[in-house]
Amino acid sequence: MHLRTVRTVAALRAAVSSARRSGHSIGLVPTMGSLHEGHLSLIRAARDQCGFVVVSLFVNPAQFGPGEDYDRYPRDERRDTELAAANGADLLFAPPTEEVYPDGFATTVEVAGLTEVLCGAPGSRGRGHFTGVTTVVAKLLNMCAPDAAFFGQKDYQQSLVVRRLVRDLDIPARIEVCPTAREPDGLALSSRNSYLDAEQREQATSLHRALDAATQAARDGADRAHVRAAALDVLRAAEVEPEYVEVLGADDLAAPRWEGGERLVVAIAATVGPARLIDNALIELPSATEHAASESALVGG
Ligand code: PAJ
Repeated sequence: MHLRTVRTVAALRAAVSSARRSGHSIGLVPTMGSLHEGHLSLIRAARDQCGFVVVSLFVNPAQFGPGEDYDRYPRDERRDTELAAANGADLLFAPPTEEVYPDGFATTVEVAGLTEVLCGAPGSRGRGHFTGVTTVVAKLLNMCAPDAAFFGQKDYQQSLVVRRLVRDLDIPARIEVCPTAREPDGLALSSRNSYLDAEQREQATSLHRALDAATQAARDGADRAHVRAAALDVLRAAEVEPEYVEVLGADDLAAPRWEGGERLVVAIAATVGPARLIDNALIELPSATEHAASESALVGG
């Protein structure tokens, strides 16, 4: 399979224009490389929906805080190129840092509100992380001008922030959010899983198990504190100290009213050994009547 690599915005735009002239729609999959099945599922979704698929590979220094893993973040462009090609990418955009942040770079793009909780909270990565993300995503969307851009639910808060960015700045790209790809034991795929040894790898499965426990508690009619406690119990049993466990409104990341039928997200961040991991689950609260019906079924049975 043929995959061309370009490293400048000018070459990216020339390739995209030529694909457009041939009548193709353009799909963009932004990544920081170290591609795994999660990234590849986004590339295949783009392949299904678009005539010409661009994968960007750029480890964005602006979204890493001091003391985070920018320097040791895994990088293997040759492997990424092969995987992207095998999954249907047409073009790899792998710019050097100076192409994205030239001398005198002075502009940032910031989304308020949604970036102030979870990973954006002061005790977590902080808002600066999302400023780095939204600035580079705005740039990538301007550089490539895709019809659609593909993101993973794995980074749920990021997907909401990107949707808001695109809406607020009238960027004419459709944002597609694809399901989280997982290992058979439930661990969400992440480039950072490569930092884990065997014991930590086992501990890391507790994030997914905690989400399952929280989901089950919500289904059983537990209140917000008990849904959160169900997740915390699983993490504690695995000796994983979470950075946060939050149950928030799925669309606004605000405190839920806890009404039947409400859509919520349970979001977890935890550091396991050298790896900071995140995962989330979307849940819908049972409606009052559903819950009453399941209670009486239990009593009756
Ligand atoms: P990165 O962590 O490389 O992820 C690239 C895309 O792959 C993101 O949209 C992310 O949500 C998605 N992804 C990661 N793991 C996944 C999984 N297990 N299942 C499904 N999708 C998954 O996210 C970033 O890079 C950066 O912040 C970026 C958007 C590229 C901006 O620099």
